[in-house]
Amino acid sequence: LAQRYRNELLHEEQSLLNTYARQQIAFRAGKGSRLWDSSGNEYIDMVAGIAVNSLGYAHPRLVAAICNQASSLIHCSNLYEIENQKELARRLSALAGGHYSLFFSNSGAEANEAALKFAVRCTGRNRIVAAHNSFHGRTAATLSVTGQQKYWKGFEPLLNGGVAFADFGNIDSFREKLDSSVAAVIIEPIQGEGGIVLPPEGFLSELSKAVHSNGSLLIVDEVQTGTGRTGRFFAYQWERCTPDIISTAKGLAGGVPIGATLVRNELSSCIKPGDHGSTFGGNPLSTAAALAVLDVVGNNAFLKQVAEKGAHLLSGLNELFSDVPQVSRVTGRGLMVGIHATPPFASAFRDFAFSRGFIVNVVHENTVRLVPPLIISEEELHAFLLMARAFARERGHGR
Ligand SMILES: Cc1ncc(COP(=O)(O)O)c(C=O)c1O
Repeated sequence: LAQRYRNELLHEEQSLLNTYARQQIAFRAGKGSRLWDSSGNEYIDMVAGIAVNSLGYAHPRLVAAICNQASSLIHCSNLYEIENQKELARRLSALAGGHYSLFFSNSGAEANEAALKFAVRCTGRNRIVAAHNSFHGRTAATLSVTGQQKYWKGFEPLLNGGVAFADFGNIDSFREKLDSSVAAVIIEPIQGEGGIVLPPEGFLSELSKAVHSNGSLLIVDEVQTGTGRTGRFFAYQWERCTPDIISTAKGLAGGVPIGATLVRNELSSCIKPGDHGSTFGGNPLSTAAALAVLDVVGNNAFLKQVAEKGAHLLSGLNELFSDVPQVSRVTGRGLMVGIHATPPFASAFRDFAFSRGFIVNVVHENTVRLVPPLIISEEELHAFLLMARAFARERGHGR
């Protein structure tokens, strides 16, 4: 029996390519911000599928939208008109302040691929400037503009010949890289995979000005920060910043794969049929799901409470960890928060949280990333802070 079990395990291990360092846990169901594993243990989820499950689990509005759409039409080729897609484009453009035309795909990397292609096509230039420590996806082009060597080492040459990297948050460093060959600068308003790194206030608006006076385009990567994550629908909206192209994905359809690339109307005439495309992108099902998410998230009252809950979480954590020497700082905006500490603090915190029924994520070994469902309650966040206090106390810190 033991041998058979070992063989089965071996078979199971070999059936999947080893691309993820997975935790040994399988979730079977969820409701609101709660998850249950296969043994029936309950958790409060502070990860939300990495900023994807914006409405948490089994949200009645999202479930109804998906079921209704699935019962009539799941897929329809982009060779034909798709009403949901047009409606979603109108609403996303309005949420970005109007004046954008949209292209739909299925993921963040695809949304960025489209953004990069459109920028090159619209400017007739071919170089891109990106930030060190950025993350824009795992396809060849998006890896090329990802400023973290660990993701692309061993896969070169990508398209790096045409990419220059500048220091995130340092406007002079970006200005130095701008010349007449630069089609676009691609930037995250807050670096997510880089470890919840916020630029200094005013950086995005300065960057927007510098890029435009160079005749280049500004691509804002809102894949992780979009759909209300930071308390504005898009995170760039915290500043005076006018992106030419916006990419977004993750939370947009609450867990159904979708990507969207918004292109300023003045630029849209340079994109012609055949320039880009996607079989699945913007299909009736994913766009129905996204419309349901926007019904909930796309209004000021909802966004305001995301900002408020995030502010409580941030100040609560700052207070808790202010006298913990391993913690250098707690950063974030809205429900996108990072606890920065010397290793092994983050992994010890993750394991402690898990043992107390909370799911958190660790980035770069030194940051605890918190990106819970946007519908998480104040009570659940309070319970999380109590757990964090118990962790600090167990180590002899905190009151
Ligand atoms: C800012 C940013 N851009 C792009 C991506 C890639 O998105 P996807 O994994 O959906 O391709 C991610 C994913 O983490 C991201 O955080």
